Amino acid sequence: MKKQKTENKVQICIDRDFTIGKVDKRIYGSFIEHLGRAVYEGIYQPGNKFADKDGYRKDVIKLIKEIGVPIVRYPGGNFVSAFNWEDSVGPKKNRPRRIELAWGVVETNEFGLDEFMNWCKKVKTEPMYAINLGTRGIEDAKNVVEYCNIKSGTLYSDMRIKNGVKDPYNIKLWCLGNEMDGPWQMGHMTAEEYGRKAGRAGHIMKLVDPTIETVACGSSGLGMATFGEWERIVLENSYDTTDYLSLHTYYGNQKDDTPNFLASSVAMDKFISQVVSICDYVKAIKRSDKTINLSFDEWNVWYHSNEQDKKLEKWVEHPHQLEDIYNFEDALLVGSMLITLLRHADRVKIACLAQLVNVIAPIMTSDTGAWRQTIFYPYMQASVYGRGEVLNTVVKVPTYESEHGDAPYVDSVVIADDENEALTIFAVNKNLEDDFELSCDLRQYAGYKVVEHSVLTHKDLKAINSEKNPDNVKPVDMTKSSKVTKGILTSKLPARSWNVIRLAK
Ligand code: AHR
Repeated sequence: MKKQKTENKVQICIDRDFTIGKVDKRIYGSFIEHLGRAVYEGIYQPGNKFADKDGYRKDVIKLIKEIGVPIVRYPGGNFVSAFNWEDSVGPKKNRPRRIELAWGVVETNEFGLDEFMNWCKKVKTEPMYAINLGTRGIEDAKNVVEYCNIKSGTLYSDMRIKNGVKDPYNIKLWCLGNEMDGPWQMGHMTAEEYGRKAGRAGHIMKLVDPTIETVACGSSGLGMATFGEWERIVLENSYDTTDYLSLHTYYGNQKDDTPNFLASSVAMDKFISQVVSICDYVKAIKRSDKTINLSFDEWNVWYHSNEQDKKLEKWVEHPHQLEDIYNFEDALLVGSMLITLLRHADRVKIACLAQLVNVIAPIMTSDTGAWRQTIFYPYMQASVYGRGEVLNTVVKVPTYESEHGDAPYVDSVVIADDENEALTIFAVNKNLEDDFELSCDLRQYAGYKVVEHSVLTHKDLKAINSEKNPDNVKPVDMTKSSKVTKGILTSKLPARSWNVIRLAK
């Protein structure tokens, strides 16, 4: 890789009337799959000293509330493609133990739809429920919407009431299967087959409850050979009953090449732009007024646990699976990925960090506690402070060549919250050696002052947090590094850092 001669300066140009779009809070969503220790020992562990009377881990709920996770996708993932939702409701003694083929384990169904909905209430989050379109059909899709959203007086709504839940759940957001383009997926289909099935499922589900929104499966990654054609054909067959198209992506630093790894957000940015183009192409040929928006409902770093997972014993209950231990450089990329999602706020309305607890997750648990992984911090800070209107920024910054194309040394985004007279800048300095000087003309924001400049940085790119050393990587206050003078904000972005600069009147 050729490093360009750079002046280590980044200039962010904004105009308060030029906006990209309002942040839909659902882009700070996450994901809980029946996989590894996400559910069992993650959010649910009856008998544990941190469990409440229903078996939910209180220490985990506290950390999730700290993030303010607005939606949680459930129950999968690959898991959902052979899942019978009926197994997961009603008296626990009647629930079957099943062979779980997606991850080679045994599923006890001790935790299911009713437990998840009860947990959502405690966490103060909304469900994003995925149906099985792999091994099951549209009849089952209809039944589960009836169970969840019809008040009473029908077979499935009365089943819910008999199971002790009087009021309907009113689940508003439904995923029409998971990664159906992937040959690994149980019930994998061609784009035509899936598009027709998703269209029919969405139709029948919306007959049961016209107020719901549906997410059709896009490609499970930009690298899929069917990418592009898959999106086009699926939408051509399901346009009228689909509201969002999904995108999934995971990145890894297998080659231990940090500059290229940190440039992965360039690939994510292209992925989003390309999917937007395909949605709009189908809109045009359909002469439709309806716009399909995006649900980036799986994104993260995932590679640390790949090798150890190959050695797992089969058909056991909730093993340690996909337990990536995240390091400091992973947190930088997660920060850049959040910035990328925000910069597409006009079309990305939903996104789910995959996943939430223990399985490729910001939160880890053991029998004796719960702690924050490195990636917890950019995710939490974006969710807490990244609410408002995303401004359309012109960012003048040097770039470096990467395998994903030219990558800016600094990724950044500005969010204006006019109601609360606040401005927030998120910025990642990907330069591993040099600090960058940031400047931004804020004269349209007369009287705004720096409230906080929080920085996540570390001398060791591979530094991690653990139960014994939970605070090894955590943000520090560097408010003194930022100031507004005569309406111009200047800041120092340390080499290799995630920055949150908050201003208010
Ligand atoms: O999040 C882990 C897995 O990654 C999900 O089950 C699947 O949808 C994706 O391939």
